[in-house]
Amino acid sequence: MNIIVSGASGQLAEAIRRHWQKHFLIMPPESELNLTSRESIQSTIQKYKPDVFVNCAAYTNVDAAEADAEQAFLVNAKAVQWIAEECNGTDTLLVQISTDYIFDGLSKSPYIENDLAKPCNVYGQSKFEGEIAALTSKKCLLFRTAWLYDTWGKNFFTTMLKLASQGKPLRIVDDQHGSPTSCRALARQLLFAVENQWRGLFNATCSGETTWYGFADAIFKKLNLTPNYSACNSSEYPTPVKRPVYSVLDNSKRKLQGPDLMGNWEDALEEL
Ligand SMILES: NC(=O)c1ccc[n+]([C@@H]2O[C@H](COP(=O)([O-])OP(=O)(O)OC[C@H]3O[C@@H](n4cnc5c(N)ncnc54)[C@H](OP(=O)(O)O)[C@@H]3O)[C@@H](O)[C@H]2O)c1
Repeated sequence: MNIIVSGASGQLAEAIRRHWQKHFLIMPPESELNLTSRESIQSTIQKYKPDVFVNCAAYTNVDAAEADAEQAFLVNAKAVQWIAEECNGTDTLLVQISTDYIFDGLSKSPYIENDLAKPCNVYGQSKFEGEIAALTSKKCLLFRTAWLYDTWGKNFFTTMLKLASQGKPLRIVDDQHGSPTSCRALARQLLFAVENQWRGLFNATCSGETTWYGFADAIFKKLNLTPNYSACNSSEYPTPVKRPVYSVLDNSKRKLQGPDLMGNWEDALEEL
């Protein structure tokens, strides 16, 4: 298959570059495929007429999005509408990646696909509008994921390793719950879904749940690192933007559809 991947310099795109090698991957730099330009989207899709367009590009800086809402909605929602329209013209499958942040985090049990979206920040709202836009395409696969990390890119895992090497005491939030998900596990599941013609919306995180502190603790123990670290509450670590305190996704629908290639979050960490 001919596959365009947007957001080529991002962490999920990097996992796709490494794990989808049996397909012909077109990964234009942002200077060629910029989601703020409809013309750029149109000309790229018209040039390659891909079988699949995987949209890994997004405005992902949750704090910055709050003050830069116009740009966040342009990249995360309007651009997805443009991509969907263009994909309809070339009979291209649109693969869109969404987020646990479309939920407010007040649930006490894992969210299923049809639970009511109630984003509590601009990033979440813009990504939710991106979901609606993606679903207007005739052929759409929408994966909702969360807490992405890998050994490359800017994420919690690489940040913890960097901070641990600096030797300063670390305070890590222990009251936000989610499912750490490696980019390589997501890329593997996504490839299977694309190759087997899955369509529609699926939650796609590694299974199980923990807190940021629990995740950091597992990282340090697996790597035999011994920094000075302790747990704290979100109130002790204020950020400019509200975040869901509980954003675990229920993966049952995906597991009924086909094999679970993502596994438990601790196994995925071990794999790294
Ligand atoms: N990271 C997570 O924990 C997480 C959780 C749930 C869902 N997701 C979703 O998963 C997908 C992949 O996320 P990720 O973690 O791989 O993000 P990432 O590492 O931040 O990569 C996003 C990429 O999009 C690019 N980009 C931003 N604006 C663009 C534009 N106007 N045109 C073209 N490219 C643009 C970025 O380039 P620059 O670096 O140059 O800005 C970057 O390469 C996104 O849809 C994200 O919303 C992520």
